[in-house]
Amino acid sequence: MELKSISVKNFRNIKDAEVIGFKKANLVAGGNAQGKTNFLESIYYLSTLSSSRMKTLNDLISIGETYFSLRCKVEKDGLSKTLDAFYGLEKETNVRVNENPVSKKSEFIGELKTVKFSPEDIDLIKRSPVERRRNINLLLSQISRPYLSDLSRYHQVLAQKNKLLFQVSERGADKKMLSVWNAQLVETGVRIVKARLEAIDSLKTGLKELQLKISGGKEIIELSYKCSFDINGDLVKNFEKKLEEVQEKEIIRKASLIGPHRDDLVFILNGKDAKYFSSEGQQRSIIINLKLTEYMLMKEKTGEEPVVLIDDIFFDLDESRRSAILSVFNGMAQVFLAGTEDKNFEKYFSEYSLIKIEEGKVTINGQKS
Ligand SMILES: Nc1ncnc2c1ncn2[C@@H]1O[C@H](COP(=O)(O)OP(=O)(O)O)[C@@H](O)[C@H]1O
Ligand SMILES: [Mg+2]
Repeated sequence: MELKSISVKNFRNIKDAEVIGFKKANLVAGGNAQGKTNFLESIYYLSTLSSSRMKTLNDLISIGETYFSLRCKVEKDGLSKTLDAFYGLEKETNVRVNENPVSKKSEFIGELKTVKFSPEDIDLIKRSPVERRRNINLLLSQISRPYLSDLSRYHQVLAQKNKLLFQVSERGADKKMLSVWNAQLVETGVRIVKARLEAIDSLKTGLKELQLKISGGKEIIELSYKCSFDINGDLVKNFEKKLEEVQEKEIIRKASLIGPHRDDLVFILNGKDAKYFSSEGQQRSIIINLKLTEYMLMKEKTGEEPVVLIDDIFFDLDESRRSAILSVFNGMAQVFLAGTEDKNFEKYFSEYSLIKIEEGKVTINGQKS
């Protein structure tokens, strides 16, 4: 799949840009704090309707404005689609595919598939479980619509259950109703866990191979899923049993303690938890390899080539690592690389578009947008 053009209005420091003429390789160049990351983030938002650099979506609106809107044209298998995303302080998110409003996020996410390599993700191993769940959710949401529907439903039910836990605990409400919510949590939750387990199974093989290769056979990385209930045997029964066991505790704590919203991913390097027993360089290398593996998984599962967004980190890597990364995309994927302009760029790509960003103003191949 290829991104053909993008229009950006009031998104962070990019007030107004219309950029047409992307190629397979695109260099997003500019000095510090000019808007390179913001530009990649606008593409990522059109892909996932989220961003990892904000507390609320309001942060994405240019300061002093009341909305942002993004529009892009994506081409796959010779067919082109237009995607629109609007977000305003007064109006909710409003998204359209080929001008048709879609009511569910799951009908929008996945239209533009992306894999992102960025400095925020580099310490994913050390960050809180929330971030690692978010990472796997964003991956699976792009691969599978049912996954995203299940996830939305799961979180709706969870909110209802938490409300009831509060009422039971504070006001002596009847706790029998909890089983109604639990039944629904089990139904969607088990599907979520199964999808994650299946994805992790593929990711771990790819990740292990890449890590062995890049470390000259020295680093064995294992990836595993830490589930809040037993994943051996019947998942439905195990989830139900665990929910029963913790019910009183949940009431006291007024919180749902079991389920995929509490699960985590664990990275084991040479037999030890990588969170505590690996260097920063090793963690960085593991995450880059994880992202490469995610790219391969997305491609394998959907038959589509995701657009690759690489923010900054690329130019800090050594030569062999850069070539190794690019060889995974093999000239097939469309790549956006952000960084200060690099003289070596011609070495990697014979043909590319040069997108320059200065104080939020965007030009492509010397033309003003
Ligand atoms: N909501 C916003 N409105 C206006 N400017 C913003 C907003 N969010 C971030 N910025 C500005 O964008 C600039 C950083 O852009 P960024 O894309 O991160 O730079 P870089 O080119 O270094 O990647 C900063 O000057 C920051 O103040
Ligand atoms: Mg940046």
